[in-house]
Amino acid sequence: MNRPAPTSRPTSWWRSALERRATRMHAYAPAGAPLRFESELEHRAAQKFFNAAFRAEESGIHQAHELADTVRSWDPELAEVLRLYGNEEGWHRELLTEFLAELGGQIEPMGRVTRTFYKVYARAKRMDTIVLTNLMFETIGSTTYRMALGNVSEPAARRMLTILTRDEAFHVPLNVHFLRRVLEREPAALPRLRRLYQLLFASLVLLPLASRPKARAFDRIETRDLMRAYALELGRLFSREHDLDLSPPRALLWLLGISRRELAHGAAHSPTSVEAAEQAVEREDVSVTAL
Ligand SMILES: [Fe+2]
Ligand SMILES: [Fe+2]
Repeated sequence: MNRPAPTSRPTSWWRSALERRATRMHAYAPAGAPLRFESELEHRAAQKFFNAAFRAEESGIHQAHELADTVRSWDPELAEVLRLYGNEEGWHRELLTEFLAELGGQIEPMGRVTRTFYKVYARAKRMDTIVLTNLMFETIGSTTYRMALGNVSEPAARRMLTILTRDEAFHVPLNVHFLRRVLEREPAALPRLRRLYQLLFASLVLLPLASRPKARAFDRIETRDLMRAYALELGRLFSREHDLDLSPPRALLWLLGISRRELAHGAAHSPTSVEAAEQAVEREDVSVTAL
């Protein structure tokens, strides 16, 4: 039996939300006092953490604007939504550039694993592939920011993390909307996307093995905790979108001790839900809770 698709919003809803948000993108306000870290190790790890965030934003703006150009001929309103969405990532990139300077760091070359990921992603040509990949990147980004917020006490770093967490909470369901529009146009892509979802799921859940040695001294998130949180949030992404039938690799969930019930149970309260997007439209009204 086919269950109905979950709550969704029309493209016009996303457009007006993004237009309202665009009027409130302010310039970076410097901390006013030097940032304080307990050790040089923590300071260095913070630079690495925000470097990774910078790369994610850079890739986000690039892909969103390219997609906007592709989509314009068949859905100008969706193209506008993509353009405005890319602008938010561009704003994050600017904020992070200034914040990195304040951290006494700079934009560094990517590590081997990150470079490989972005290289493969930048080469993707199919719209559905780009949108699904981006959605999954947004999900692990917002999960990492949220968990870091639970552990980081440095006030300026917390302010930066709060902005990013709030906005990514809006971007995840927005990307679910993109995916649905693209699939409406090309339903035959779904079987391929199911395979891609499983492949990306496994690769992204393993990513903390590469990121933890670099950033843990700053965000204090343990490897297994981050792997489990990635699996949980990536798994929850489609746990209510029954019609898409995108299901995560069972063996991996089992290894990380995640039951189907846990996936379904938290989905309505998950930061990735449409309800969360509605609450996140007005940035100023969002209270950010750590995972
Ligand atoms: Fe962002
Ligand atoms: Fe984003």
